[in-house]
Amino acid sequence: MRKLLVLSALLLLALAVGACTPAEVEPPEPVIEYVEVTVVVEPTPEPPPPTEVPPEPTPLPDHSEYYAALAAEDGPHGDNWDEGKGPNTWCSRCHSPQNWDPAAFRGPPPSCFTCKFPTDDEIRIAEGNPLVPEEEWVGIQCDTCHRTEDGVVLEGNAWLNPITMEYQDVSTPTELCEKCHVTTTGNAFGSAVDHKITLGGSAHLNYGGFLGEVAPPTYCSDCHDPHSGEIMQCEDCHTIDVAAHAKGKYAGMQMLTCLACHDAGGYDVGPHPDEDMGGIWVPQETTMGRGGPSTSAIISHSIVYEVACDRCHFEENTWELTVYTADGEIPEPPAEEGEGGGDG
Ligand code: HEC
Ligand code: HEC
Ligand code: HEC
Ligand code: HEC
Ligand code: HEC
Ligand code: HEC
Ligand code: HEC
Repeated sequence: MRKLLVLSALLLLALAVGACTPAEVEPPEPVIEYVEVTVVVEPTPEPPPPTEVPPEPTPLPDHSEYYAALAAEDGPHGDNWDEGKGPNTWCSRCHSPQNWDPAAFRGPPPSCFTCKFPTDDEIRIAEGNPLVPEEEWVGIQCDTCHRTEDGVVLEGNAWLNPITMEYQDVSTPTELCEKCHVTTTGNAFGSAVDHKITLGGSAHLNYGGFLGEVAPPTYCSDCHDPHSGEIMQCEDCHTIDVAAHAKGKYAGMQMLTCLACHDAGGYDVGPHPDEDMGGIWVPQETTMGRGGPSTSAIISHSIVYEVACDRCHFEENTWELTVYTADGEIPEPPAEEGEGGGDG
């Protein structure tokens, strides 16, 4: 703003002319002179208008939320050093790609990999794949899954191949996940890593279309936030009418997880093998180990609409459940006296 202050003052100057003139003489009209005094206060000089306006810098996207999510201790990818998960230069290929040494190799037994089994007192160090100390461990950071420019993550996904250190395009998020969530047993490396997740079942992968307005979850990241590890559970998207569900019988079966009924993976089902889980029914698998058969709960990723009641309520089931047909009907009694399954 201009600050031009003009002070104008009127100075009246009376000039007494002929102070000594005799009294009888009419004193002459006083000569009045107006003197205009202008005081100019110089304005602070304004900078000259710039000839070229520099473009507004595009604000950098704020990714602090993603950094915080990825760094969280309970997240799957960021902060994942763990004595029991092979914190060495070999296993790090997926667990912390920047710590991977392509020259690392599987050591001779009994300590093939630097790792700590639950039964070990101390971490065992293997020949061929030394320990990566926690303070040197990188984890899985932004640049493994996103291209970056000047340290800023760009939109979309790409996989930083840890051998070539070049980005490889991926056509879906699932393709990115499967760079590491894979099973590599039986390959040239003899790596014995078994981490593949197979999506199956027609409930969500029905490419013929869907009835509602929302597409069903198709890619891993539709349910799993790869940054925070947050998971969308069935009930986050489906509201179940308990009274009407499963032919009106669901209310009597609250001890069942959704996938105990809706699994399309063909697993056995039964009460959770871990007794602390309170007997809730889950898909499960029994494997033969050195110490005999052992049963573990399975997280099925195959979901179907159709549910056969006789998956559990079959004849002579060991849980003494009422026998039902696949459709939930009481089976026709056999010609002779049955085993007392029936409707009791
Ligand atoms: C090809 C990539 C890859 C390599 C190599 C790899 N892992 Fe994994 N690992 C994963 C992925 C992905 C997960 C998480 C998914 C899961 O739990 O199935 C995981 C999870 C784990 C887990 C926890 C879950 C479980 O299945 O028990 C352990 C323990 C583990 N890895 C140990 C190792 C060890 C030890 C090595 C080296 C011998 C190794 N991993 C090498 C990809 C890999
Ligand atoms: C394990 C892989 C993985 C890591 C590590 C990862 N991201 Fe992502 N990120 C993804 C995937 C996959 C999506 C797309 C999710 C979707 O479409 O549902 C995504 C989405 C995003 C988006 C949304 C925009 C877009 O591209 O779709 C931003 C922003 C982002 N990530 C930033 C980051 C930052 C910053 C980091 C590091 C702090 C990071 N990500 C680490 C896999 C990853
Ligand atoms: C660079 C390799 C890599 C990529 C790419 C990757 N993961 Fe993982 N992921 C891992 C490893 C290794 C673990 C196991 C970390 C641990 O348990 O310490 C893991 C753990 C997880 C877990 C937790 C598993 C559990 O047992 O609780 C989930 C869920 C997961 N990843 C989902 C995803 C999804 C979804 C994507 C794709 C968007 C993805 N991951 C991409 C390597 C990867
Ligand atoms: C429809 C949603 C959905 C989709 C799609 C999905 N998951 Fe999952 N995933 C889940 C749920 C729910 C769990 C169980 C989490 C819990 O409660 O522990 C789970 C568990 C996991 C686990 C840990 C359990 C285990 O078996 O080790 C891993 C690893 C995993 N998912 C990886 C993936 C990958 C990789 C993909 C893509 C190929 C994928 N998921 C797609 C819902 C989904
Ligand atoms: C991210 C949201 C989301 C999650 C999580 C999710 N679903 Fe779905 N699901 C959908 C959508 C959307 C459809 C398609 C509905 C349609 O046809 O319009 C669908 C379809 C289905 C169908 C077929 C129903 C029909 O009317 O065709 C079944 C059964 C189903 N889901 C079960 C499950 C189970 C069990 C889980 C947990 C493992 C689950 N869903 C997790 C969104 C989800
Ligand atoms: C006792 C077995 C059982 C359990 C447990 C169960 N369902 Fe169902 N569900 C059914 C049956 C039966 C149908 C109807 C399909 C048929 O007639 O075969 C159905 C239908 C559905 C449908 C299609 C739309 C509808 O409402 O009819 C969705 C979505 C669904 N279930 C999701 C879930 C979710 C989510 C859970 C866990 C909260 C769950 N179900 C638990 C048996 C079960
Ligand atoms: C995954 C296994 C499983 C499937 C599939 C299943 N049920 Fe059940 N059902 C159970 C279990 C376990 C109980 C006992 C529940 C409890 O004690 O909380 C039960 C209890 C019941 C009961 C109450 C007790 C009784 O025996 O009358 C009825 C009714 C029933 N189921 C009907 C059905 C019908 C109809 C279907 C098919 C739509 C079905 N169930 C599918 C496991 C299953």
